[in-house]
Amino acid sequence: METSFRRTCYCGEPRESDAGRTLSVCGWVQRRRDLGGLIFVDLRDRTGILQLAFDEGTEKSVFDTAFSLRSEYVVAATGVLRVRTSRNPDLPTGDVELFVTDLQLLAKSETPPFEILENTDVNDALRLKYRYLDLRRPNLQRLLAFRHRVAKVARDYFDEQGFLEIETPMLTKSTPEGARDYLVPSRVHPGKFYALPQSPQQYKQLLMIAGVDRYFQIARCFRDEDLRADRQPEFTQIDLEMSFADETLIQTIQEGFLKRVFKECLDVDVETPFQRMPWREAMDRFGSDKPDLRFGFELKDISDIVKDCGFGVFRDPIAAGGSVRLINVDGHAKDFPRKKIDKLVEYVKTYKAKGLAWARLVDGAVTSSFQKFLTEEENAAILERAGAKDGDLILIVGDARDEVVFAALGALRCECARQLGILDPKEFRFLWVTEFPMFEWSEEEGRYQAMHHPFTAPMIEDEDKILTDKKNCRARAYDIVLNGTELGGGSIRINTPEMQEKAFQALGISEEDIQERFGHLVQAFRYGAPPHGGLAYGLDRLVMLMTGAPSIRDVIAFPKVQNASDLMMGCPDVVDDKQLDDLSIAVTAMEAEEEE
Ligand code: AMO
Repeated sequence: METSFRRTCYCGEPRESDAGRTLSVCGWVQRRRDLGGLIFVDLRDRTGILQLAFDEGTEKSVFDTAFSLRSEYVVAATGVLRVRTSRNPDLPTGDVELFVTDLQLLAKSETPPFEILENTDVNDALRLKYRYLDLRRPNLQRLLAFRHRVAKVARDYFDEQGFLEIETPMLTKSTPEGARDYLVPSRVHPGKFYALPQSPQQYKQLLMIAGVDRYFQIARCFRDEDLRADRQPEFTQIDLEMSFADETLIQTIQEGFLKRVFKECLDVDVETPFQRMPWREAMDRFGSDKPDLRFGFELKDISDIVKDCGFGVFRDPIAAGGSVRLINVDGHAKDFPRKKIDKLVEYVKTYKAKGLAWARLVDGAVTSSFQKFLTEEENAAILERAGAKDGDLILIVGDARDEVVFAALGALRCECARQLGILDPKEFRFLWVTEFPMFEWSEEEGRYQAMHHPFTAPMIEDEDKILTDKKNCRARAYDIVLNGTELGGGSIRINTPEMQEKAFQALGISEEDIQERFGHLVQAFRYGAPPHGGLAYGLDRLVMLMTGAPSIRDVIAFPKVQNASDLMMGCPDVVDDKQLDDLSIAVTAMEAEEEE
């Protein structure tokens, strides 16, 4: 095989105006069509496809090489570009073809396990095992290039705003962001471990104390948590921090970034400033701290109407300190016949709701699952509160725990919108959610946890509540939400040792633990810590939402699957006993070997 060639253009570039030029292209054989004395080869590179043509005028050795080509062979072809006799309007290069005079076979390929096509129904496991072939698909190539452009705009924008890109360590100490840590054993310090960063949070705050003033980083983060469609165990943040800034300044700079990135990468004009909504309002109206504002179906509290009613399903949760709330899927009763409602009942149960009450208003008549248990006045009051009119569907959840009501109805309103197909992926509704609670109660742990992270400052008017009224203490935290997804989160930070110690105390961290785990930060606060705050975006999520990719995996070159393994590399994996010995590690439990 020869190896001397010089490419003059990419496959996706030639146009009719280039006809007559001598061009050299390189790429992979998409397919070869053999029509007797005529051979056509579709050649693919990351920019697109160009048709190569060979006929009786082609030199025999070149023709023979063309005849030997198979899918995914790698070739370099030189020839003269000419206008095609039958044009292909589906290809950007469909008006032209390269009449090849020199063809070099650069690499052969075995028959690939699946055909490299834009749209494929090949199962995910096979695609991910052969990810390097999967990535040859044009749509994934486009996503990789798109992601590159988003990262490039981020670098340009934050550079222009005076942010310095600074790398922070990967081998570090645990920074709690609410997930488990990935640990790395130390050889030099037997029995001791580094933690891979869940985020660069403490380092970026220490950089503010170091006088850096404005920091940013495209930072890899590691979190050992259950995976979902928008979560990966290692993911990338656009992470930033600034000194001498309040919420408004930080948010204005972020709005500038999002405006710029949507314009430059999607040619979409985003209107700023974005809407702002306190957390309490978001929960009450949408049952979610990341509401999708592209549609209504807002929550309404009917606890006052049903608190003394004769129907235990509504009355008892309120007596137990919870609430009963509804959504009105307005105008869509006919889209949800009984069978579909039965499925919605099952759906809310996955959010721990015990059931779902409903009322349908169709052709002037009301049918409902609860009508007969309530008085006429109570039924009428519920419909009035719902703003119900003919054609509406009312869905009601009650529970002794408000969180369950919010989670179930918050998810249900989105599920109804999804089923109705009313979500336009090209409509981008941004929202700042503000005034988050400082703490949230963890059933699992039986104690309060930081809702954002323990470095977040309390709202000035709530500072006194940090130890005495945790439930009502609000934080100077904000999330940027896009179409129902949390794109990023941040806060103004605590910057005095006294307040930081109080925040740790409020979380039940002992004095000894504070010193052990966070002593370095508390100490740093003693040496002139400027007021500071920041934010981090999930880069993967941003790219996913901008491109409408169905999964976060599509925008990551080498993602992990649900059980956090990499099917291509085959990891995690066992290591040699020698390596374990070096690390003073003994493995006590092994995963059961899977039967082949
Ligand atoms: P937070 O934990 O909210 O904040 O993370 C910021 C953003 O990172 C993205 N994200 C993820 N993306 C993919 N997979 C995951 N497992 C995952 N976890 C989080 C989300 C999220 O909004 N240090 C703080 C930021 C700050 O306060 O400045 C932090 O990490 O888009």
